[in-house]
Amino acid sequence: MSVLVTGGAGYIGSHMTLALADQGDKVVVLDNLTTGVRAQVAEAATFVQGDIRDTKLVREVLEKHQVEAVIHFAGSIVVPESVENPLFYYANNTAASRDLIEACVASGVKKFIFSSTAAVYGATDQPSIAEDGIKAPESPYGRSKLMTEWMLADTAMAHDFRYVALRYFNVAGADPKGRSGQSTPRATHLIKRACQVALGRVPYLGIFGTDYPTPDGTGIRDYIHVSDLIGAHALALGHLRNGADSSVFNCGYGHGFSVREVVKAVERVAGKALAVKEMPRRAGDPPMIVSNPAKLKAALGWKPEHDALDEIVAGALAWESRLNST
Ligand code: UD1
Repeated sequence: MSVLVTGGAGYIGSHMTLALADQGDKVVVLDNLTTGVRAQVAEAATFVQGDIRDTKLVREVLEKHQVEAVIHFAGSIVVPESVENPLFYYANNTAASRDLIEACVASGVKKFIFSSTAAVYGATDQPSIAEDGIKAPESPYGRSKLMTEWMLADTAMAHDFRYVALRYFNVAGADPKGRSGQSTPRATHLIKRACQVALGRVPYLGIFGTDYPTPDGTGIRDYIHVSDLIGAHALALGHLRNGADSSVFNCGYGHGFSVREVVKAVERVAGKALAVKEMPRRAGDPPMIVSNPAKLKAALGWKPEHDALDEIVAGALAWESRLNST
């Protein structure tokens, strides 16, 4: 029996693959390498280059490797890109996930973990948001993921199939053992971009929007260390293996930082001032989004181990300094 990780050459999927291999699971990675990096796939994993929309290939992989559970990371994640090219997001996220779920049902895979997003909630004036909060995605990206959650719920009603959807808040940082980090070329994440500025690879950091209704006018996000996020996936897999029902969980710490606070943290850790440029808001960005993590803690016993912005930034900076591209 093995676990299939789609998108296992990507930032979060590569950390998942390492964690599964560390805990003794057999892992197969399926990745089309459009944004993933082959060298990031754990040596212990079997690597298959291909697309989750290639149903014939997916079914072959599921059956040949006796896949017991699928952890589905593959997809596109850039909010403004989804505003410019929505149909690509509905194809690459929603339609591709539909095909993957169908292949799982056809091949008898009964456990599925899905990378969902806090972007399903959209703008909120609440200090934090729980899983039953109003779903009002502000971008095609958020809608593409919410539609996949709906497909999973309907599939679980109709078939012998259970899932956990994990709604990620802002994932950042790197493997504490230095084995993986955010390597995606041209990544747009705030902490990664700020580290690139600190390393002199990018001339300045754009601050996208200084007129939000937040204390310092910049966007507030709940930054979660990638290792704590992976810990939530490992617990979710155990939960499904124990026969638990399908469920949805937020993955964040429950407190947020503004863009300016993140800039200060990078300055502290790097020991130098960052050049910044105030710019207009970015399309599709809500002012503030912070998790209420109570359900994840209560139902899965999740205990964060890296809840410190400076630690997240230090890991991201150390990883970035080892890369030689932006
Ligand atoms: C991120 C994820 C998305 C995830 C979502 C959950 C990426 C690319 N997107 O989106 O997949 O589902 O969180 O909430 O990781 N900012 C700047 N300057 C920059 C970059 C960003 O000011 O150069 C600001 C943004 O406007 C935002 C904050 O920093 O307020 C975080 O942005 P970013 O790291 O891109 O993540 P999100 O867009 O929140």
